[in-house]
Parts: sequence; C-alpha cells; structure tokens
Amino acid sequence: MKLLIAGKGGVGKTTVAALLSHILADNGYSVLALDTDSVPNLAQSLGLPLEVAEGIVPLAKNEELAEERTGARPGEGWGLLFSLTPKVDDIVDKFGVRVRDGLSLVVVGSIDAGKEGCLCPAIALAKAFLNHVLLKRREVIVVDAEAGAEVFGRGLAEKFDMTICVSEPTVKSLAISRKLIKMSRDLGVRRNVLVINKVVDNLRAAQLYAKMFSNDPVPYHIVRYDENLVSIEARGLGVTSLPKGSPVVSDVFSLYNKVLKLIKL
Ligand SMILES: Nc1ncnc2c1ncn2[C@@H]1O[C@H](COP(=O)(O)OP(=O)(O)O)[C@@H](O)[C@H]1O
Ligand SMILES: [Mg+2]
Repeated sequence: MKLLIAGKGGVGKTTVAALLSHILADNGYSVLALDTDSVPNLAQSLGLPLEVAEGIVPLAKNEELAEERTGARPGEGWGLLFSLTPKVDDIVDKFGVRVRDGLSLVVVGSIDAGKEGCLCPAIALAKAFLNHVLLKRREVIVVDAEAGAEVFGRGLAEKFDMTICVSEPTVKSLAISRKLIKMSRDLGVRRNVLVINKVVDNLRAAQLYAKMFSNDPVPYHIVRYDENLVSIEARGLGVTSLPKGSPVVSDVFSLYNKVLKLIKL
C-alpha cells in the first residue's frame, strides 16, 4: 500500500501522515514514512525528540552520500557523467530512523531541484531512492509530500495506490485540492481521497464539499478541528502525546478504515 499525502502548506498533511503512520503500525502493518517536504518536520510529529529530529540530514541534501553513491562531487552538477543508478537498497536500513516497532522514517527532503538549490547528484540519489522504495519495499509507504503529486513527475506518481489530498474547509483551499486531485488522476493515481481538515461545523463542510465537487465527486472525509493539537505543538510533542479520545485521533482512525476499504475495492 503506497499512500501519498498531498495538499497546500499548513493544511495538516504532516499531522495526518504522522497519525496515519502510527495507526497503521498499531494495527500490525510495517510502515515506512517518507518526508519529502523541503522543510521536513514529520520526524517531530511522529514523536521523535527534537535533538534526534534536528540531527537528521535529508537525503536530497546529503552531498557526501551522493558523492559516494553517484561518483559525482558536489558542484559538478549535471555537466559531468555520474551514475543514475546509484546503490540505494541499503538506505532504509542505514539512514532510516526507527520510530517504534513497525514504523521507520526516512527524511528524503524535496526532490524539486529549485527548492533545494540544485544539489543535483543528491537529488538524483533521492529520486533513485524513491523509485526503489515505491517499486521494491514491502512496507506500507506513507509519503508526506509538498504541494502536488507533480513533484514526483511521471513514472513515480503512478506507483501510488492512493493520493490523500488534505484541505481546509474554505473555498480557496478546496479549489486548490480540486486541482491537485485532478493532477493526481492525470498522473495515473487511481484512488483519490479528499480530507477536509480542521472542521468546526461538519454540516457546513459537507455543504461546501457538495458545492465545490458537484461536477467531479471524490470520496471525502472530515477531520475535526482539535485544540489538543495546539497544546502538543506548543510543547514540541508529537501526535503520540495526544489524548486517546482526541477528535483528530478518532477521525484519522476512521480515515484509516476508509483507506483500507478503498484500497481493497
Ligand atoms: N485537525 C486539526 N485541528 C487543529 N489544528 C490542526 C489540525 N490539523 C493540523 N493542525 C495544525 O495546523 C498546523 C499545520 O499542520 P501540519 O500538519 O504541519 O500541516 P502541513 O504539513 O500541511 O504544512 C499545525 O500547527 C497543526 O497542529
Ligand atoms: Mg508538513
């Protein structure tokens, strides 16, 4: 099962990715969480201590490893010949951080060369790694992605079983999600789910959905606004510190059930 969590910045992708990863692990799945944001922070949301989270070098920024694996020195860029098929099959074991039993994290960083200031060999390494993971790894893969599936380009996006597009309950945010879902479909992702997050009024959110998606319906799921997130974030804690009956925990748990059902269809 390969899940892409997409959406605009600040809508709750990392929160949903972290909770979903833990819930999958709770239910006996082996999970590999990948952070492909240019400002990665999934590690902290998963509950890793700040010192550990801050010590992680994203793969797309690891010039030393890129040099070792591609044979290109930093700064030499695309002009010189370097291996486009670097060894990546040991990266999860060597660079993955074990969050808990059944849940590991690899911080990939953004593979958008513009965003990373184009450390091209490192980005080539990160892309090769993503390709490898999507083709060969047997875990459930949860990717906390930036913006849309377009960063993965053709050939990578279609390997996802599902895009979970996170949105806020506003016209603006839902309009962006509509575009992202269209893009995801065009790139070959067959299952797409819209998550309307930070919802205070369920009925209004449902009405907004009906208005915005009347021509192009997509399964949607509401996740309530949850004060508990504000308090754990203020203390620098991860989703594992949320109280058991927390609205966001129970709503992402029903999202998990919905995802499983849709994947098995
Ligand atoms: N359901 C929710 N209720 C309240 N706050 C939320 C909810 N989901 C996310 N947030 C908050 O919104 C902010 C952005 O969330 P985050 O998951 O980092 O978004 P993204 O990864 O899309 O940028 C965080 O401060 C987070 O705690
Ligand atoms: Mg994020």
